Amino acid sequence: MSLRIALVGASGYVGGELLRLLLAHPDVEITTLTAGESAGTTVAEHHPHLLPLADRVIEETEVARLIGHDVVFLALPHGQSAPIAKALQEQDPRAVLIDCGADFRLADAEAWRHWYKSEHPGVWPYGLPELPGQRDRLRRSRTFAIPGCYPTAVALALVPAFGAGLVTDEAVIVAFSGTSGAGKSPLPHLLGSEVMGAASPYAVGVHRHTPEIAQSLETACGGPVRVSITPVLAPMPRGILAVCTAPFAGPALEDAELRKVYAAAYDTEPFVHLLPAGIWPTTSSTLGANTAHLQVVADGHSGRLVAIAAIDNLTKGTAGSAIQCMNLALGIPEGTGLPLTGVAP
Ligand SMILES: NC(=O)c1ccc[n+]([C@@H]2O[C@H](COP(=O)([O-])OP(=O)(O)OC[C@H]3O[C@@H](n4cnc5c(N)ncnc54)[C@H](OP(=O)(O)O)[C@@H]3O)[C@@H](O)[C@H]2O)c1
Repeated sequence: MSLRIALVGASGYVGGELLRLLLAHPDVEITTLTAGESAGTTVAEHHPHLLPLADRVIEETEVARLIGHDVVFLALPHGQSAPIAKALQEQDPRAVLIDCGADFRLADAEAWRHWYKSEHPGVWPYGLPELPGQRDRLRRSRTFAIPGCYPTAVALALVPAFGAGLVTDEAVIVAFSGTSGAGKSPLPHLLGSEVMGAASPYAVGVHRHTPEIAQSLETACGGPVRVSITPVLAPMPRGILAVCTAPFAGPALEDAELRKVYAAAYDTEPFVHLLPAGIWPTTSSTLGANTAHLQVVADGHSGRLVAIAAIDNLTKGTAGSAIQCMNLALGIPEGTGLPLTGVAP
């Protein structure tokens, strides 16, 4: 099989990670690369690590150029994917569309308007196959909304507990992110001299991933969940470490009981690893791998469950889940082309 692939946003960080993973996929042909201002430049100018594609020229993004592919990946800032996706659905309905941005993640139109200050573009199946019942939905779909990187880490850390009714209706999260989580933008707070040697909170109480995290936890438990997330920019290029806590619904459980619930959720999942008791997730252990490393314990003093997840924001946090979805949609074994091993230290 040789699937024709188009990638919109090829010059960006997510675009680069998609290309890295697609180069290792046996069933695809990277056919069309487009972007915005960098149209006319070569891949080598943006992603010198992708040698096999070095001389490929990135083209201007036009819907006509995207027609005739088996799969179109959209790796654009939020608000940019929806018009392209809608035009493509009309003109080439057989293509599989995979959006790595936020446009189609939220089911609640009001929440979208509140957090994104624009009209709700719609909702597509949420591209995280490890959530309960989600894999079968994704197999039947041709459109996919890939989760944000923080929501991926938090959902994997907390959905088993919310789904089993172990914890009540709130979650408090402090999550550390590498700078690539903000995209390739030349912003002052992302300058090396600002980032190196510093850990800096940002968007406290107003981060746009709040409703997406709430959506996953509410789907799991069937009731409302109040979410507080404090993101912290950390001096590393990649990685998310999400420290998530929620109050137990009853008396604190023993760690061993908690581990049974998480083992039942993830024992058959190749990419999600509940670490042995006493071993803590670290971002360096997931670097470049399509994996999530988890640990869960009971904090008996505060009566809270503590679940910690580490992922690579560009791999399991975006591009890896996007390729899992492509594989599911096209009947290819789900893990094809996806690395289980990282590059630590
Ligand atoms: N970075 C992460 O860890 C991460 C994780 C999960 C999800 N996401 C989401 O994935 C999407 C891409 O993120 P990113 O980090 O790759 O951002 P990025 O590095 O800033 O890249 C954005 C890409 O979009 C292109 N682009 C911007 N406006 C465009 C337009 N009007 N038409 C065509 N192309 C346009 C840019 O091309 P030019 O440079 O040529 O203008 C660039 O290729 C975002 O929605 C982000 O929220 C990112």
